[in-house]
Amino acid sequence: AEVLCVDGDFSSIVFPFLERKAIRVRNVPLAALAESITDDTWLVVFSHVQSATGQVADVAAILEAAGAHETYTFCDTTQSAGVHPVDASLFDATVCHSYKWLCSPRGVAFLTLSERFDAQLTPLQAGWYAGDDVWKSCYGPQIHLAANARRFDVSPAWPAWVGAEPAIRMFSELDIDEVWALTSGLGDALCDGLGIPQQHQAIVTWADPDGRDLGKLIAAGIKASGRAGRLRASFHLWNDESDVAAVLAALR
Ligand SMILES: Cc1ncc(COP(=O)(O)O)c(C=O)c1O
Repeated sequence: AEVLCVDGDFSSIVFPFLERKAIRVRNVPLAALAESITDDTWLVVFSHVQSATGQVADVAAILEAAGAHETYTFCDTTQSAGVHPVDASLFDATVCHSYKWLCSPRGVAFLTLSERFDAQLTPLQAGWYAGDDVWKSCYGPQIHLAANARRFDVSPAWPAWVGAEPAIRMFSELDIDEVWALTSGLGDALCDGLGIPQQHQAIVTWADPDGRDLGKLIAAGIKASGRAGRLRASFHLWNDESDVAAVLAALR
């Protein structure tokens, strides 16, 4: 079976397929993903928003091509949930680690499955928490796994969930279109100030091969990151125009 992935996508969603020798993994640039799906493609795997560049996938085109070739779809929403609108029900599978834009402690991650894809999968890591009745599933040897995707649950890292619950509740009450308008608007304002084309993204990146720009931001007390030879600056709810001005002043 062929699994189609994106050049430079986050390794956590690519390495598991590369490890399975029976699976043929093909990589293409994000912009060519939809047109690269063929009848041989069993699964198309991509991040909704790319970690290294902030680029947003053309979900409509990918879904249309996947539908035409009866290809399952797997979307990683780690870099979009909480900042960009996303509808998990559009995909056969989504995964999301909530420690990015959803501002949760590390260790709270989500999986969604369509019924048709769920039917293809085996819960290899099932333990008591995957049981139909969790507290009646603590001891074997009988197993009664949940009938739905909950059978893929693993035992929760409890302290992380204590922090995730209020954080995710807060995001669920927000208008995410509004959050995206604010954050991508700040991204465009930064692009204007830098004199580079607007990226229409909450994550703005530019070439910084020697890390000089990143060094200037760090020296000014601004948190940003260097990824794949590029500087990556991100805007979230708590940022405003003064942060754009601070970045531009630090880079001068
Ligand atoms: C697209 C994407 N998926 C997943 C992760 C996190 O992966 P893991 O849960 O293996 O830490 C990240 C982190 O940057 C990411 O950008």
